[in-house]
Amino acid sequence: MKHLLSIKDLSLEEIEKIFSLAEDVRDNPERFRSSLKQKVFALIFHKPSLRTRISFEVGIFQMGGKALYLEKEIGFPEREAIKDIARVLSVYLHGVIIRTFSHQLLLEFAAYSQIPVINALSDLLHPCQVLSDLFTIKQKKGDLKKVKLAYIGDGNNVCHSLIYGCAKTNTSLSIATPARYLPSSKIVEEAGGKVEIGNNPQEAVKGADVVYTDVWTSMGKEKEREERKKEFSGFQVNEDLLKKAKPDCLLMHCLPAHRGEEVTDQVIEGKQSIVFDQAENRLYVQKAILLLIN
Ligand code: CP
Ligand code: NVA
Repeated sequence: MKHLLSIKDLSLEEIEKIFSLAEDVRDNPERFRSSLKQKVFALIFHKPSLRTRISFEVGIFQMGGKALYLEKEIGFPEREAIKDIARVLSVYLHGVIIRTFSHQLLLEFAAYSQIPVINALSDLLHPCQVLSDLFTIKQKKGDLKKVKLAYIGDGNNVCHSLIYGCAKTNTSLSIATPARYLPSSKIVEEAGGKVEIGNNPQEAVKGADVVYTDVWTSMGKEKEREERKKEFSGFQVNEDLLKKAKPDCLLMHCLPAHRGEEVTDQVIEGKQSIVFDQAENRLYVQKAILLLIN
């Protein structure tokens, strides 16, 4: 692994390696206390973050490294050419973790970077999230090949990474979005795998072991919020919808949640919800990624 920009670039073996190392760092944190000694990583975030930023910073610290959160003064990407920033940071650092809007910008940065680049979310993809989520599902349900995951909501960055992640791990995926908010057909085609796409949440959750949802209005799309609330109104994950899945079905959400929109307070607080396990696993999985990429 040179960079981690998309799950598309990983083999099943690499994903399995991430999962087994994530278990190891979770169970034996003391063994990894010096694994990133003298290593310095930059976090460049153009959007807000709670889980991603903090789990990366804490993970790097716990393994003996240092994280630099780079604020606006570096002027990425407008102060100088992206290729110049990438080459200069490569001289000082051991890795760069980027959250930004344009996936293209990430690709351009990575093309010139001599050090690993990790995608901490772009408008197109959220690979660290989905690797942690698949790790979480495996922990709870066992063999991913026997799992049916239903994704209800926006065909967004999280949905795209789920499409790649489920295809790589042979997890069945059933997606329901409003017709105007389908995932990219290019990604669906490229990923292959056991995927069904439709516009009916009730159909999608039938027989599901996991029901997953994400916000209707992603970061950067705030102006569309009222319009989206109307378009997505039949796509809320609530008790009635969960009842149509398997009785032992789990509820997942990458968070932050907009309670009362894509998910009700009742189900996110309910027994089926594993949203905080997902958040916790970000730490272990990202530690594993940092170790494998260095
Ligand atoms: N799930 C996730 O990536 O959360 P943050 O946006 O808070 O980092
Ligand atoms: N789809 C959401 C994910 C947040 C972690 C967004 O991009 O805002």
